[in-house]
Amino acid sequence: MRIAVLSDIHGNPIALDAVLADIEANGGADEYLVLGDLVAIGYDPIAVLERLTALPGVRFVEGNTDRYVVAGDRPFPSIEDAAGDHTLLARLVEVAHTFAWTQGAITAAGWFDWLAALPAEQRLQLPDGTQVLGVHVAPGRSDGAGIHPKMTEDELRPLLAGVAADLVCVGHTHWPMDRRVAGIRVINTGSVSNPVALDLRASYALIDARQSGYQVELRRVAYSCAAVIDAVERSRHPSGDFIISHFRGQRYPWWAGGADGQEHAARAQLITDAERGLQPRSAPGRSHGGDQSTRP
Ligand SMILES: [Fe+2]
Repeated sequence: MRIAVLSDIHGNPIALDAVLADIEANGGADEYLVLGDLVAIGYDPIAVLERLTALPGVRFVEGNTDRYVVAGDRPFPSIEDAAGDHTLLARLVEVAHTFAWTQGAITAAGWFDWLAALPAEQRLQLPDGTQVLGVHVAPGRSDGAGIHPKMTEDELRPLLAGVAADLVCVGHTHWPMDRRVAGIRVINTGSVSNPVALDLRASYALIDARQSGYQVELRRVAYSCAAVIDAVERSRHPSGDFIISHFRGQRYPWWAGGADGQEHAARAQLITDAERGLQPRSAPGRSHGGDQSTRP
């Protein structure tokens, strides 16, 4: 059997269609495991939900931004944060607008109750007996920094302690990863949408599972960032500029930080320009290294 594992689709049917086409071109999947962040911070949440729920054998977990849409809690900054630092006020207002926009869209289309009922985790067993746990951030955690490539074994081990699983699948950080820690394999599928530099392609995982064992392939899929930017602009999404910055290669992983951010900026711009068939141009003047606003 083959299981496609996707995460962080963020209301982007263009990226999702590219991933689904890649799955089909590689023989299709019998089941799908979708690890959350389905609708928020994207231009067409309903099209994404309609496509995902039509997939065969599909299971879902809730992402932190799905929870923001239905439960009313919000990411940084809080009202208290902004009261103590007025430079955060504009961001506080934008965050309120962006999740209200998505809540209105999914409620009007009849999806609120479905989104609110998403479970925190999914468990399944592969034909060889491998126990799989699927979560959005990390086992038992519904928010926070997640599991990213710069984590040491000592940092990863407590996140995986006592999970009763052989293979843990996560998303949230928007960057793919495949590690083994204390006998547990942890796969981060990366994100279908809202990419971070250096690589603006969608990413997902294919699990080929047989009675004799299983294999995981992390795949990257190109799609038109220009088409997404155009769609975001037409949607009048209140966080349009922020969403578009992902597709211009201007968002950097928060774990890269510091001087890495400058390096990533220059290289990501070259990749973006190459994908669009543009002449290379100079790197953005402003460093986004360690920018917490990249946090999904
Ligand atoms: Fe996300």
